[in-house]
Amino acid sequence: MALQELRATALELVSGNKGILAADESTGTIKKRFDGIGVDSTEENRRGYRELLFTAEGIEESISGVILYDETIRQSAADGTPFPRMLAEKGVIPGIKVDLGAKPLAFATEETVTEGLDGLRERLEEYVGLGARFAKWRAVITIGEDIPSDLCIAANAHALARYAALCQEAGLVPIVEPEVLMDGAHSIERCYEVTRTTLRAVYSELFLQRIELEGTLLKPNMVLSGTDNANQAGPEEVAERTLRCFHEVVPAAVPGIVFLSGGQSDETASANLNAINAAGSQPWRLSFSYGRALQAPSLQAWRGDEANIRAGQEALLHRARMNSAAVAGRWSRELEQLAPAA
Ligand code: 13P
Repeated sequence: MALQELRATALELVSGNKGILAADESTGTIKKRFDGIGVDSTEENRRGYRELLFTAEGIEESISGVILYDETIRQSAADGTPFPRMLAEKGVIPGIKVDLGAKPLAFATEETVTEGLDGLRERLEEYVGLGARFAKWRAVITIGEDIPSDLCIAANAHALARYAALCQEAGLVPIVEPEVLMDGAHSIERCYEVTRTTLRAVYSELFLQRIELEGTLLKPNMVLSGTDNANQAGPEEVAERTLRCFHEVVPAAVPGIVFLSGGQSDETASANLNAINAAGSQPWRLSFSYGRALQAPSLQAWRGDEANIRAGQEALLHRARMNSAAVAGRWSRELEQLAPAA
């Protein structure tokens, strides 16, 4: 696969102040989300909910790509159009989550390594046939008293690079996602250190495994105070530390950085992204690849009721527009209020 094509896809995903909708919840995770709104996690309910998201009118104005799950990439809209084709016809790039989840890491208490490398070459080939143009693999790094261990960081960085190489070989843009969790009472300084160490290990492995960085995207956490820390950094501090961290360790050849929301409230995720982009021009484009921060209000508005489909779509569109404004550095709390009520 020509690097040129990978580079063009990566750039397209972060162009026009657009970002990515992560709708790749595994069957277990979507069940948790549905439990929260009292909806049964049947295949038809999962399909119907994803159709609600993907058919929101005008979604393509602020969303460049959607990450799908294995079940979803094989499903179709009610009119029979396969989801990947429906998205592509609107100009939204279909992507696919290809990891098989974070599993306990041997000899490392409470830490995980993400699995899914065995047979990955063949699975990627199938996903390309189904219309995917980019992929995602999420590694999880937890901050605790004596963790993360070097072992956990090294094992996850290695797996991320093996995945990225197979993706590029198959013609898919790999989204490299090493998530340092925000759970815990740690300070923002500690998050900075762990994020920097993790990213340094990841880029060292990507280099070793001959990845063409121009045909990749990074999906990191922001540098944040731990959820249980009494001292919560505001958007300006988050932006300053996040950018400083990336300047130290993320090569300028990487075309774009698309943040995960990681449990931030939807408005906080927009406020922080806005502050990051308001800080001026950077070597990479800085956008979003949010799951919860885009979908939470939509799930709440829908609640599994057909009569609420429109309201669910309006709620999604609102968050997508707010985050698109944040990519441009033009988001504000006032803008949130101006939006039409769902
Ligand atoms: P959140 O934005 O909900 O963290 O999800 C993004 C994602 O795709 C995690 O892998």
